[in-house]
Amino acid sequence: MESNPCLPLVFFLIVSCSIAQIEAGTRQSEALGHLYKAKLEGNSNVDSALFQAIDHVDISKFHRQEGSKEKDRIESLPGQPKVEFSQHGGYVTVDKSAGRALYYYFVEAQHSKESSPLLLWLNGAANVLFLESPAGVGFSYSNTTSDYEKSGDKRTAEDNYVFLVNWLERFSEYKDREFYISGESYAGHYVPELAHTILYHNKKAKKTIINLKGILIGNAVINPETDTIGMYDYLGSHAIISDVLVHKVRTHCNFSFNATPQSDECNEAVDEVRKDTHHIDIYNIYAPSCFHKNTTEKPKKPSLVNFDPCSDYYVYAYLNRPDVQEAMHANVTKLTHDWEPCSDVITSWSDSPSTIIPLLQELMANGLRVWIFSGDTDARVPVTSTQYSINKMKLQVKTEWHPWYLKGEVGGYTQVYRGDLTFATVRGAGHQVPTYQPLRALSLIKHFLDGTSLPDTTRY
Ligand SMILES: *[C@@H]1O[C@H](CO)[C@@H](O)[C@H](O)[C@H]1NC(C)=O
Ligand SMILES: *[C@@H]1O[C@H](CO)[C@@H](O)[C@H](O)[C@H]1NC(C)=O
Ligand SMILES: *[C@@H]1O[C@H](CO)[C@@H](O)[C@H](O)[C@H]1NC(C)=O
Ligand SMILES: *[C@@H]1O[C@H](CO)[C@@H](O)[C@H](O)[C@H]1NC(C)=O
Repeated sequence: MESNPCLPLVFFLIVSCSIAQIEAGTRQSEALGHLYKAKLEGNSNVDSALFQAIDHVDISKFHRQEGSKEKDRIESLPGQPKVEFSQHGGYVTVDKSAGRALYYYFVEAQHSKESSPLLLWLNGAANVLFLESPAGVGFSYSNTTSDYEKSGDKRTAEDNYVFLVNWLERFSEYKDREFYISGESYAGHYVPELAHTILYHNKKAKKTIINLKGILIGNAVINPETDTIGMYDYLGSHAIISDVLVHKVRTHCNFSFNATPQSDECNEAVDEVRKDTHHIDIYNIYAPSCFHKNTTEKPKKPSLVNFDPCSDYYVYAYLNRPDVQEAMHANVTKLTHDWEPCSDVITSWSDSPSTIIPLLQELMANGLRVWIFSGDTDARVPVTSTQYSINKMKLQVKTEWHPWYLKGEVGGYTQVYRGDLTFATVRGAGHQVPTYQPLRALSLIKHFLDGTSLPDTTRY
């Protein structure tokens, strides 16, 4: 597979809001924070039943797409250097009567695009299709504003599925192409749920409607109990909270699903954790801070690692430019809110399964490639959480833990399990892995798409 390593960083950032920007102070983040809390307290109205694909996708949601592809072609973006790859952007209607449409941005591989697989990146290179989902996120919208109160995992999976079938109609040369789905953070839900929906409808139709081959999820929300305990253990083992405090949390809090409201001791301990973490970026614990949010002619000098802590503000400024939106065929209906890295339009979340482990098991049982990666400086859904969640699956180890390499350096560590599950860390990456370690992330994605194991010698 040939891919395009010089994809501008900004486009990796066109991700839908995930749990990522949580606690960054936006309303959506609070909503997701509350969702987590509500789920753990077991007394919310959030439907937490295991995920089931919608039985019946109304075929009236599928439309002919003649001419749309040409209309979506993007000649160039304001300020973009000359690029060799072709790019498209536009809307796909997922519900005509409600007026609900999802925005996508698509870059084709620079070389051998005819044979390269298709990769869908939810939220967060091959032929890469970026999707802003659900409606209410980024440029995606609904004309029926009450839709924003009905968001949930089930609706998202259905809309994503309807989007995909319609999109493949628009780009019909990709219909039989090997297809992969990836995403980070809360996409730990979206990705397996969409994969399950695709498998379900392929089986029901007794044919391959979508040629799904595998999924890749990073710093992913998998199983709340292990995710949460792993977070406190990570903070403790990285000198952010004391071991006494870890012990207090572990003694007084019960993160098992449906646990009754937490004790006062637990709440006090969690408050102490908040004090210790308040002034660092828990999505990348070693990251510098962004002190001046104003955009300037030249982006700020990156420090520590090759990344600008203010980059979110630049992306915000760029994507809200009317000329950029026009070039991208975005915001054609003149929405009343700004493009935000994290949506505050969605007001409530109706369903979120208690765990997605059974879905991962189902995907593996159906022969799909499942890769789970972890940027190792993220404390929000850290590597410990992911390890505890994978341990819950009680898989047999196929290839023992070892470093993997890129350009003579350790890119991270990996362990492969029987049943085709690869776990890999990305060294020095925070929650949004490609933002912090683009080359390591690209190498990981290449090996995932090629189905080859990560290099175990420094020769690569
Ligand atoms: C939403 O409403 C606008 C204005 O009426 C219309 O142009 C647009 O096509 C509608 N969107 C969808 C997805 O139907
Ligand atoms: C935690 O809560 C669950 C669900 O209510 C309960 O079954 C379990 O016994 C609790 N664990 C402890 C250690 O109290
Ligand atoms: C940022 O922009 C605001 C509004 O334009 C201005 O008042 C403020 O002085 C600027 N701050 C810096 C550090 O440039
Ligand atoms: C859409 O365009 C309107 C009018 O230019 C602007 O006020 C709004 O912020 C934009 N919204 C998005 C999501 O881009």
